[in-house]
Amino acid sequence: MIERVLVTGGAGYIGSHIAVTLLRAGMEVIIVDNLSNASELVLDRIEAITGRKPLFYKADCRDKQALQGIFNTHHVNAVIHLAGYKAVGESCEMPLMYYRNNLEATLVLLEVMRDFGVDKLVFSSSATVYGDNVSMPVREQAPTSVTNPYGRTKLMIEDILRDVVEARPEALKVALLRYFNPAGADESGLIGEDPKATPNNLMPYVSQVAIGKRQKLSVFGGDYPTEDGTGVRDYIHVADLASGHLEALRWLDEVVDLHCCQPINLGTGVGYSVLEVVSAFEQVSGRQVTYEIVDRRAGDVAVSYADVTLASELLGWQAEKTLEDMVSDAWRWQQRNPDGYGRS
Ligand code: UD1
Repeated sequence: MIERVLVTGGAGYIGSHIAVTLLRAGMEVIIVDNLSNASELVLDRIEAITGRKPLFYKADCRDKQALQGIFNTHHVNAVIHLAGYKAVGESCEMPLMYYRNNLEATLVLLEVMRDFGVDKLVFSSSATVYGDNVSMPVREQAPTSVTNPYGRTKLMIEDILRDVVEARPEALKVALLRYFNPAGADESGLIGEDPKATPNNLMPYVSQVAIGKRQKLSVFGGDYPTEDGTGVRDYIHVADLASGHLEALRWLDEVVDLHCCQPINLGTGVGYSVLEVVSAFEQVSGRQVTYEIVDRRAGDVAVSYADVTLASELLGWQAEKTLEDMVSDAWRWQQRNPDGYGRS
């Protein structure tokens, strides 16, 4: 039985939604986060939603002593590892910072887990590991390739985990969850995505245009071989993504296969174009989302959506929420917290 889960990066956008899901499932949650891209206020919000507060340590995963202290104090059954930098453009400008941070945090965490005999790990990987040479919908056994240092850290960590499991299969079981495009927010409107600077991702950008914080959306490319010429992605509600983590933990707890280091896609299996997202947002918010079609963004693929058969077979999990749910929850969060956690 998994009773106590440590979530690295648990104060962030995805981590906070995972914390809510695990707390609701009756688990104890220990968040370790250096708050480099998160706010401590999120802890009160999680408590307001669930009636329970996660334990929180402000610490960097690269700080071995700090991690040892936490593992010493709490009997951790499993770890969900989300801590890491995640901006594609920034990773191209500062590759060393990305490799140092994302790889070292993982290595230190793995050493401490080994020393304390913690044998279940869910790793936050990304559909970015499929690169741009695969046909859609993409299955887990598709060839991997990456186009930027951020993506390479995800792929390198997947490889590291495979090696670690191979070396001592009795000591570690891993689920590599390959996220498609997380969007939306908890339906309470209390937690959501809070980009520190100009959003890189579509959904937060659109919602800032809708609320009037930004003038217009630049749609990156109108000449892709898609129905309306704009890029197609598999948007998944962050609450569905979070429940995928809960099911992955339960699966790891029961799986008897040794050599378990299993990639699993978390998506809906359905793709929407940029203009479909824009129009869904306009409908839900009643606001106009002004946009302009500009050049393609370097490194973008035309179409990306998941084959979700494996998640359903192994985890008994599938996404339940629709694009309208994602948009209306993102909009509620945006309206209630126009400045994110900053001055709300
Ligand atoms: C991006 C990253 C991916 C990362 C993921 C989660 C790239 C190439 N990929 O995925 O590695 O795992 O975020 O953080 O950056 N779009 C616009 N205008 C905008 C923003 C986006 O038209 O201002 C379009 C994009 O061209 C794309 C779609 O919206 O077609 C989704 O973009 P985005 O939200 O940035 O996600 P990805 O690029 O799929």
